[in-house]
Amino acid sequence: MDDLKAKYLGQIADAGDENALEAIRVAAVGKKGEVALKMRELGKMTPEERQVAGPALNALKDEINSALSAKKAALADAALDERLRTEWLDVTLPTRARRQGSIHPVSQATEELTAIFAELGFSVAEGPRIEDDWYNFDALNIPGHHPARAEMDTFYMHRAEGDNRPPHVLRTHTSPVQIRSMEKQGAPIRVICPGGVYRADYDQTHTPMFHQVEGLAIDQDISMANLKWVLEEFVKAFFEVDDVELRFRASHFPFTEPSAEVDIRCSWDNGQLKIGEGDDWMEILGSGMVHPKVIAAGGIDPDVYQGFAFGIGIDRLAMLKYGIPDLRAFFDSDLRWLRHYGFAALDMPNLHGGLSR
Ligand code: PHE
Repeated sequence: MDDLKAKYLGQIADAGDENALEAIRVAAVGKKGEVALKMRELGKMTPEERQVAGPALNALKDEINSALSAKKAALADAALDERLRTEWLDVTLPTRARRQGSIHPVSQATEELTAIFAELGFSVAEGPRIEDDWYNFDALNIPGHHPARAEMDTFYMHRAEGDNRPPHVLRTHTSPVQIRSMEKQGAPIRVICPGGVYRADYDQTHTPMFHQVEGLAIDQDISMANLKWVLEEFVKAFFEVDDVELRFRASHFPFTEPSAEVDIRCSWDNGQLKIGEGDDWMEILGSGMVHPKVIAAGGIDPDVYQGFAFGIGIDRLAMLKYGIPDLRAFFDSDLRWLRHYGFAALDMPNLHGGLSR
Protein backbone atom coordinates (compact mmCIF):
# COMPACT_ATOMS: atom_id res chain seq x y z
CA MET A 1 0.00 0.00 0.00
CA ASP A 2 2.93 2.33 0.66
CA ASP A 3 4.20 1.52 -2.82
CA LEU A 4 0.80 2.38 -4.36
CA LYS A 5 0.67 5.61 -2.45
CA ALA A 6 4.18 6.67 -3.46
CA LYS A 7 3.55 5.71 -7.08
CA TYR A 8 0.28 7.63 -7.52
CA LEU A 9 1.18 10.71 -5.47
CA GLY A 10 4.38 10.92 -7.50
CA GLN A 11 2.47 10.64 -10.78
CA ILE A 12 -0.03 13.27 -9.64
CA ALA A 13 2.77 15.66 -8.69
CA ASP A 14 4.32 15.23 -12.16
CA ALA A 15 1.07 15.51 -14.16
CA GLY A 16 1.28 18.37 -16.65
CA ASP A 17 -2.39 18.85 -17.51
CA GLU A 18 -5.93 17.76 -16.78
CA ASN A 19 -5.87 14.90 -19.28
CA ALA A 20 -2.90 13.32 -17.54
CA LEU A 21 -4.64 13.75 -14.19
CA GLU A 22 -7.78 12.04 -15.47
CA ALA A 23 -5.74 9.06 -16.72
CA ILE A 24 -4.13 8.76 -13.30
CA ARG A 25 -7.52 8.95 -11.60
CA VAL A 26 -8.91 6.11 -13.75
CA ALA A 27 -5.84 3.93 -13.19
CA ALA A 28 -5.74 4.53 -9.44
CA VAL A 29 -9.22 5.04 -8.02
CA GLY A 30 -11.48 4.35 -11.03
CA LYS A 31 -13.97 1.44 -10.89
CA LYS A 32 -11.40 -0.89 -12.34
CA GLY A 33 -8.46 0.95 -10.91
CA GLU A 34 -5.68 -0.50 -8.81
CA VAL A 35 -7.19 0.55 -5.49
CA ALA A 36 -10.58 -0.99 -6.41
CA LEU A 37 -8.87 -4.24 -7.35
CA LYS A 38 -7.15 -4.24 -3.97
CA MET A 39 -10.50 -3.67 -2.26
CA ARG A 40 -11.89 -6.73 -3.98
CA GLU A 41 -9.16 -8.73 -2.34
CA LEU A 42 -10.56 -7.74 1.08
CA GLY A 43 -13.11 -10.60 0.75
CA LYS A 44 -10.36 -13.16 0.80
CA MET A 45 -8.86 -11.80 3.98
CA THR A 46 -9.41 -12.91 7.56
CA PRO A 47 -11.59 -10.55 9.57
CA GLU A 48 -8.55 -9.36 11.52
CA GLU A 49 -6.61 -8.58 8.36
CA ARG A 50 -9.64 -6.90 6.86
CA GLN A 51 -10.02 -4.64 9.87
CA VAL A 52 -6.58 -3.21 9.21
CA ALA A 53 -6.56 -3.29 5.42
CA GLY A 54 -10.10 -1.91 4.89
CA PRO A 55 -9.66 1.48 6.55
CA ALA A 56 -6.13 1.75 5.20
CA LEU A 57 -7.36 1.24 1.61
CA ASN A 58 -10.15 3.77 2.13
CA ALA A 59 -7.65 6.25 3.55
CA LEU A 60 -5.39 5.66 0.52
CA LYS A 61 -8.31 6.25 -1.82
CA ASP A 62 -9.19 9.49 -0.02
CA GLU A 63 -5.59 10.63 -0.07
CA ILE A 64 -5.26 10.01 -3.81
CA ASN A 65 -8.59 11.75 -4.48
CA SER A 66 -7.65 14.85 -2.53
CA ALA A 67 -4.19 14.93 -4.16
CA LEU A 68 -6.00 14.76 -7.51
CA SER A 69 -8.30 17.67 -6.74
CA ALA A 70 -5.52 19.73 -5.21
CA LYS A 71 -3.43 19.19 -8.34
CA LYS A 72 -6.42 19.97 -10.53
CA ALA A 73 -6.91 23.29 -8.75
CA ALA A 74 -3.20 24.05 -9.00
CA LEU A 75 -3.26 23.35 -12.74
CA ALA A 76 -6.29 25.65 -13.19
CA ASP A 77 -4.55 28.40 -11.24
CA ALA A 78 -1.43 28.02 -13.34
CA ALA A 79 -3.51 28.19 -16.53
CA LEU A 80 -5.22 31.36 -15.30
CA ASP A 81 -1.88 32.88 -14.32
CA GLU A 82 -0.53 32.13 -17.76
CA ARG A 83 -3.56 33.72 -19.41
CA LEU A 84 -3.28 36.79 -17.21
CA ARG A 85 0.38 37.04 -18.08
CA THR A 86 -0.09 36.77 -21.84
CA GLU A 87 -3.32 38.75 -22.11
CA TRP A 88 -2.12 41.54 -19.85
CA LEU A 89 -3.10 45.04 -20.87
CA ASP A 90 -1.92 48.27 -19.26
CA VAL A 91 -5.06 50.38 -19.21
CA THR A 92 -3.08 53.33 -17.86
CA LEU A 93 -1.03 53.70 -21.06
CA PRO A 94 -1.64 57.02 -22.82
CA THR A 95 -4.01 56.85 -25.78
CA ARG A 96 -2.86 57.53 -29.32
CA ALA A 97 -2.19 61.23 -29.92
CA ARG A 98 -5.46 62.97 -30.75
CA ARG A 99 -5.71 64.19 -34.31
CA GLN A 100 -7.43 67.39 -33.45
CA GLY A 101 -8.23 69.87 -36.17
CA SER A 102 -7.67 73.57 -35.76
CA ILE A 103 -9.47 76.67 -36.92
CA HIS A 104 -7.98 78.23 -40.06
CA PRO A 105 -6.81 81.85 -39.61
CA VAL A 106 -9.36 83.01 -42.22
CA SER A 107 -12.20 81.38 -40.28
CA GLN A 108 -10.80 82.80 -37.06
CA ALA A 109 -10.57 86.32 -38.53
CA THR A 110 -14.12 85.97 -39.90
CA GLU A 111 -15.45 84.99 -36.48
CA GLU A 112 -13.58 87.87 -34.89
CA LEU A 113 -14.83 90.53 -37.29
CA THR A 114 -18.37 89.16 -37.11
CA ALA A 115 -18.25 89.59 -33.32
CA ILE A 116 -17.00 93.16 -33.68
CA PHE A 117 -19.57 94.22 -36.27
CA ALA A 118 -22.33 92.52 -34.28
CA GLU A 119 -21.40 94.84 -31.42
CA LEU A 120 -21.70 97.78 -33.85
CA GLY A 121 -25.21 96.67 -34.85
CA PHE A 122 -24.48 94.80 -38.11
CA SER A 123 -26.07 91.44 -38.82
CA VAL A 124 -24.67 88.84 -41.23
CA ALA A 125 -26.04 88.36 -44.75
CA GLU A 126 -24.89 85.90 -47.38
CA GLY A 127 -25.06 85.45 -51.14
CA PRO A 128 -24.02 82.86 -53.73
CA ARG A 129 -20.44 82.51 -54.92
CA ILE A 130 -21.60 81.63 -58.42
CA GLU A 131 -23.28 84.92 -59.22
CA ASP A 132 -25.49 86.35 -61.89
CA ASP A 133 -23.51 88.99 -63.78
CA TRP A 134 -26.29 91.47 -63.15
CA TYR A 135 -25.67 91.29 -59.38
CA ASN A 136 -21.89 91.20 -59.73
CA PHE A 137 -21.69 94.06 -62.24
CA ASP A 138 -24.75 95.82 -63.73
CA ALA A 139 -26.61 96.43 -60.48
CA LEU A 140 -23.38 97.86 -59.07
CA ASN A 141 -23.25 100.46 -61.83
CA ILE A 142 -20.74 98.49 -63.88
CA PRO A 143 -22.38 98.24 -67.33
CA GLY A 144 -21.26 95.71 -69.97
CA HIS A 145 -18.57 97.80 -71.62
CA HIS A 146 -17.14 99.10 -68.33
CA PRO A 147 -13.37 98.58 -67.97
CA ALA A 148 -13.89 97.38 -64.36
CA ARG A 149 -15.12 94.06 -65.77
CA ALA A 150 -11.76 93.48 -67.40
CA GLU A 151 -9.82 94.96 -64.47
CA MET A 152 -11.32 92.45 -62.08
CA ASP A 153 -9.90 89.43 -63.94
CA THR A 154 -13.26 87.73 -63.79
CA PHE A 155 -13.76 83.96 -64.00
CA TYR A 156 -16.74 83.28 -66.29
CA MET A 157 -18.81 80.11 -66.07
CA HIS A 158 -19.53 78.15 -69.21
CA ARG A 159 -22.99 78.37 -70.78
CA ALA A 160 -24.47 75.43 -72.65
CA GLU A 161 -24.25 75.54 -76.46
CA GLY A 162 -26.97 77.80 -77.86
CA ASP A 163 -27.70 79.47 -74.50
CA ASN A 164 -27.13 83.12 -75.26
CA ARG A 165 -27.76 84.58 -71.84
CA PRO A 166 -24.76 86.31 -70.30
CA PRO A 167 -22.60 83.78 -68.41
CA HIS A 168 -22.64 83.44 -64.66
CA VAL A 169 -19.44 84.56 -62.95
CA LEU A 170 -17.55 83.49 -59.87
CA ARG A 171 -18.27 86.62 -57.88
CA THR A 172 -15.30 88.96 -57.98
CA HIS A 173 -16.29 90.70 -54.74
CA THR A 174 -18.92 90.53 -52.01
CA SER A 175 -20.59 93.72 -53.27
CA PRO A 176 -23.40 91.81 -55.07
CA VAL A 177 -24.64 90.87 -51.60
CA GLN A 178 -25.36 94.59 -51.07
CA ILE A 179 -28.00 94.36 -53.80
CA ARG A 180 -29.38 91.03 -52.59
CA SER A 181 -29.65 92.30 -49.01
CA MET A 182 -31.36 95.56 -50.01
CA GLU A 183 -33.84 93.59 -52.14
CA LYS A 184 -34.57 91.26 -49.26
CA GLN A 185 -34.58 93.64 -46.27
CA GLY A 186 -35.21 97.13 -47.63
CA ALA A 187 -34.11 100.19 -45.66
CA PRO A 188 -32.87 101.00 -43.10
CA ILE A 189 -30.29 98.24 -43.20
CA ARG A 190 -27.00 97.37 -41.52
CA VAL A 191 -25.35 94.18 -42.69
CA ILE A 192 -21.97 92.61 -43.21
CA CYS A 193 -21.49 89.91 -45.83
CA PRO A 194 -18.39 87.75 -45.36
CA GLY A 195 -17.41 85.12 -47.92
CA GLY A 196 -15.18 83.80 -50.67
CA VAL A 197 -14.52 85.74 -53.88
CA TYR A 198 -12.55 84.93 -57.05
CA ARG A 199 -10.15 86.71 -59.38
CA ALA A 200 -7.49 85.46 -61.77
CA ASP A 201 -4.49 86.77 -59.86
CA TYR A 202 -1.58 85.07 -58.11
CA ASP A 203 1.37 86.41 -56.10
CA GLN A 204 2.48 86.93 -52.49
CA THR A 205 -0.59 89.03 -51.64
CA HIS A 206 -3.09 87.73 -54.25
CA THR A 207 -4.71 84.32 -54.68
CA PRO A 208 -7.42 83.30 -57.19
CA MET A 209 -9.81 82.69 -54.32
CA PHE A 210 -9.78 84.92 -51.29
CA HIS A 211 -12.20 86.35 -48.74
CA GLN A 212 -13.91 89.67 -48.28
CA VAL A 213 -16.40 91.09 -45.89
CA GLU A 214 -18.81 93.61 -47.33
CA GLY A 215 -20.38 96.21 -45.09
CA LEU A 216 -23.54 98.14 -45.88
CA ALA A 217 -25.35 100.75 -43.81
CA ILE A 218 -28.33 102.56 -45.33
CA ASP A 219 -30.54 105.03 -43.54
CA GLN A 220 -31.78 108.60 -43.96
CA ASP A 221 -28.85 110.44 -42.43
CA ILE A 222 -25.74 108.31 -42.81
CA SER A 223 -22.60 110.18 -43.84
CA MET A 224 -18.95 109.63 -44.70
CA ALA A 225 -18.13 110.54 -41.08
CA ASN A 226 -20.06 107.47 -39.89
CA LEU A 227 -18.09 105.34 -42.35
CA LYS A 228 -14.77 106.63 -41.07
CA TRP A 229 -15.74 106.10 -37.43
CA VAL A 230 -17.02 102.58 -38.02
CA LEU A 231 -13.86 101.59 -39.89
CA GLU A 232 -11.58 103.06 -37.26
CA GLU A 233 -13.48 101.38 -34.44
CA PHE A 234 -13.40 98.12 -36.32
CA VAL A 235 -9.68 98.20 -37.06
CA LYS A 236 -8.78 99.06 -33.46
CA ALA A 237 -10.98 96.28 -32.10
CA PHE A 238 -9.74 93.76 -34.65
CA PHE A 239 -6.05 94.42 -34.06
CA GLU A 240 -6.66 94.76 -30.31
CA VAL A 241 -4.75 98.06 -30.05
CA ASP A 242 -5.72 101.57 -29.02
CA ASP A 243 -4.18 103.17 -32.09
CA VAL A 244 -3.64 101.94 -35.62
CA GLU A 245 -2.35 104.13 -38.37
CA LEU A 246 -4.79 104.20 -41.25
CA ARG A 247 -4.44 106.05 -44.52
CA PHE A 248 -7.65 107.08 -46.30
CA ARG A 249 -6.90 107.56 -49.99
CA ALA A 250 -9.36 109.12 -52.42
CA SER A 251 -10.22 106.43 -54.95
CA HIS A 252 -12.83 105.35 -57.43
CA PHE A 253 -15.39 102.55 -57.52
CA PRO A 254 -18.37 102.60 -59.88
CA PHE A 255 -20.68 101.71 -56.98
CA THR A 256 -19.62 104.39 -54.50
CA GLU A 257 -19.33 108.16 -54.74
CA PRO A 258 -17.20 109.51 -53.17
CA SER A 259 -14.87 106.54 -52.67
CA ALA A 260 -11.89 105.90 -50.45
CA GLU A 261 -9.38 103.11 -50.12
CA VAL A 262 -7.83 102.44 -46.75
CA ASP A 263 -4.28 101.28 -46.13
CA ILE A 264 -2.70 100.21 -42.87
CA ARG A 265 0.89 100.97 -41.85
CA CYS A 266 3.13 97.91 -41.82
CA SER A 267 6.66 96.62 -42.40
CA TRP A 268 8.05 93.53 -44.14
CA ASP A 269 11.50 93.36 -42.48
CA ASN A 270 13.35 90.09 -43.27
CA GLY A 271 10.16 88.45 -44.47
CA GLN A 272 8.49 89.32 -41.16
CA LEU A 273 5.21 91.16 -41.55
CA LYS A 274 4.46 93.63 -38.76
CA ILE A 275 1.55 95.95 -38.36
CA GLY A 276 1.69 99.55 -37.08
CA GLU A 277 5.37 100.18 -37.84
CA GLY A 278 7.66 100.72 -40.83
CA ASP A 279 7.32 102.60 -44.10
CA ASP A 280 5.02 100.28 -46.00
CA TRP A 281 1.28 100.41 -46.44
CA MET A 282 -1.00 97.50 -47.14
CA GLU A 283 -4.35 98.14 -48.74
CA ILE A 284 -7.05 96.41 -46.73
CA LEU A 285 -10.31 97.84 -47.94
CA GLY A 286 -12.33 99.87 -50.42
CA SER A 287 -15.23 102.00 -49.30
CA GLY A 288 -17.44 104.96 -50.01
CA MET A 289 -20.95 106.37 -50.05
CA VAL A 290 -23.25 104.01 -51.94
CA HIS A 291 -24.01 105.35 -55.44
CA PRO A 292 -27.67 106.36 -55.86
CA LYS A 293 -27.98 104.04 -58.86
CA VAL A 294 -26.93 101.12 -56.65
CA ILE A 295 -29.47 102.02 -53.99
CA ALA A 296 -32.12 102.16 -56.70
CA ALA A 297 -30.98 98.78 -58.10
CA GLY A 298 -31.54 97.36 -54.62
CA GLY A 299 -35.14 98.59 -54.75
CA ILE A 300 -34.68 101.49 -52.31
CA ASP A 301 -35.47 105.14 -53.03
CA PRO A 302 -32.15 107.01 -53.31
CA ASP A 303 -33.91 110.34 -52.78
CA VAL A 304 -34.85 109.26 -49.25
CA TYR A 305 -32.02 106.94 -48.29
CA GLN A 306 -28.27 107.07 -48.43
CA GLY A 307 -25.45 105.20 -46.79
CA PHE A 308 -21.97 103.77 -46.90
CA ALA A 309 -20.44 100.51 -48.04
CA PHE A 310 -17.04 98.93 -47.65
CA GLY A 311 -15.29 95.77 -48.75
CA ILE A 312 -12.44 94.46 -46.58
CA GLY A 313 -9.95 91.74 -47.50
CA ILE A 314 -10.26 89.20 -44.70
CA ASP A 315 -7.15 87.23 -45.68
CA ARG A 316 -5.06 90.39 -45.57
CA LEU A 317 -6.42 91.27 -42.13
CA ALA A 318 -5.39 87.81 -40.94
CA MET A 319 -1.92 88.18 -42.52
CA LEU A 320 -1.40 91.48 -40.72
CA LYS A 321 -2.80 90.40 -37.38
CA TYR A 322 -1.03 87.06 -37.21
CA GLY A 323 2.18 88.06 -39.04
CA ILE A 324 1.73 85.66 -41.96
CA PRO A 325 3.93 86.92 -44.81
CA ASP A 326 2.59 84.93 -47.79
CA LEU A 327 -1.09 84.75 -48.66
CA ARG A 328 -0.59 81.65 -50.81
CA ALA A 329 0.17 79.55 -47.72
CA PHE A 330 -3.45 80.07 -46.62
CA PHE A 331 -4.58 77.73 -49.36
CA ASP A 332 -1.80 75.12 -49.39
CA SER A 333 -3.48 72.86 -46.79
CA ASP A 334 -0.07 72.19 -45.25
CA LEU A 335 -0.84 70.53 -41.92
CA ARG A 336 2.29 71.89 -40.24
CA TRP A 337 1.29 75.42 -41.25
CA LEU A 338 -2.28 74.83 -40.08
CA ARG A 339 -1.08 73.54 -36.73
CA HIS A 340 1.23 76.51 -36.33
CA TYR A 341 -1.18 79.26 -37.35
CA GLY A 342 -4.46 77.53 -36.49
CA PHE A 343 -6.67 78.25 -33.49
CA ALA A 344 -8.21 76.01 -30.86
CA ALA A 345 -11.43 74.52 -32.17
CA LEU A 346 -13.59 75.42 -29.19
CA ASP A 347 -12.54 79.02 -28.53
CA MET A 348 -15.23 81.31 -29.84
CA PRO A 349 -13.95 84.87 -30.27
CA ASN A 350 -15.96 87.52 -28.49
CA LEU A 351 -15.24 91.06 -27.47
CA HIS A 352 -15.52 90.44 -23.74
CA GLY A 353 -13.52 87.23 -23.41
CA GLY A 354 -10.85 88.39 -25.90
CA LEU A 355 -10.82 87.90 -29.65
CA SER A 356 -7.72 85.82 -30.20
CA ARG A 357 -6.51 84.59 -26.84
N1 PHE B 1 -15.94 95.67 -54.07
C1 PHE B 1 -14.73 96.46 -53.94
C2 PHE B 1 -13.54 95.54 -54.27
O1 PHE B 1 -13.67 94.36 -54.27
C3 PHE B 1 -14.56 96.97 -52.53
C4 PHE B 1 -15.62 97.94 -52.15
C5 PHE B 1 -16.76 97.51 -51.50
C6 PHE B 1 -15.45 99.29 -52.42
C7 PHE B 1 -17.74 98.42 -51.13
C8 PHE B 1 -16.42 100.19 -52.07
C9 PHE B 1 -17.53 99.76 -51.42
O2 PHE B 1 -12.46 96.02 -54.53
